[in-house]
Amino acid sequence: MLEISGLVSGYGRISILHGIDLRVEKGELVALVGVNGAGKTTLMKTIAGLIRPTAGRIAFEGSEIAGEGAERAVAAGIALVPEGRMVFPRMTVWENLMLGGVHPRARPYREATLERIFDLFPRLAERRDQKAATMSGGEQQMLVIGRGLMAQPKLLILDEPSLGLSPLLVQETYGALRKLNADGLTILLAEQNVKLSLAVSNRGYVIENGKIVLTGASSDLARDPATRKAYLGRL
Ligand SMILES: Nc1ncnc2c1ncn2[C@@H]1O[C@H](COP(=O)(O)OP(=O)(O)O)[C@@H](O)[C@H]1O
Ligand SMILES: [Mg+2]
Repeated sequence: MLEISGLVSGYGRISILHGIDLRVEKGELVALVGVNGAGKTTLMKTIAGLIRPTAGRIAFEGSEIAGEGAERAVAAGIALVPEGRMVFPRMTVWENLMLGGVHPRARPYREATLERIFDLFPRLAERRDQKAATMSGGEQQMLVIGRGLMAQPKLLILDEPSLGLSPLLVQETYGALRKLNADGLTILLAEQNVKLSLAVSNRGYVIENGKIVLTGASSDLARDPATRKAYLGRL
């Protein structure tokens, strides 16, 4: 579904990603793990069309989308749930969700998708008229995931969904991701939380200083001494 090769990307003249190769097959849940500053967000944003790469290819369902912009990525069926729970604070839960579904590819399914999201996150249903700013961190994370789903994506990309959440809410968020994946949604997940993300994913990539240094089945990566060495104290 997603095939990235030789991707070089960064900010201005500074390259952060130095030739990334990564693929995600339809139906997979793939984890990209790496410490703070490794380049995870830069990669997610480049895939979503928010950063223009300087070299390399990003093929999505066979079409080249590298450097084509965010609108093209959304139209192709890629939704990014950004890091940092960026809700529209003065809008209600319902309004935030509706904004996620304004794209023509999503609009016809808004009501049905909304029902699915409320099934997945009953807390959002209870709070549909509450202003997003007054929600807890965990509820805001559910809301941004919900907003991403409203775009009717084929590929859902999440940037550090567990960051700053209590263990209980992390479990809840990850439970929802598992359920979405079991229902057929393809997911690419960037995480510093190596243990957790390798536990839910099929395959994983380890990124270090803008390069993929290890890849394989998540269960193998979790056991790999190299991963353990890189994340001592995290596994
Ligand atoms: N807007 C920016 N301008 C310049 N450098 C940036 C910018 N955003 C991130 N960086 C740099 O890019 C590198 C990778 O950052 P990032 O992709 O955010 O890593 P991660 O998400 O893995 O923590 C870091 O060295 C960071 O300082
Ligand atoms: Mg990041």
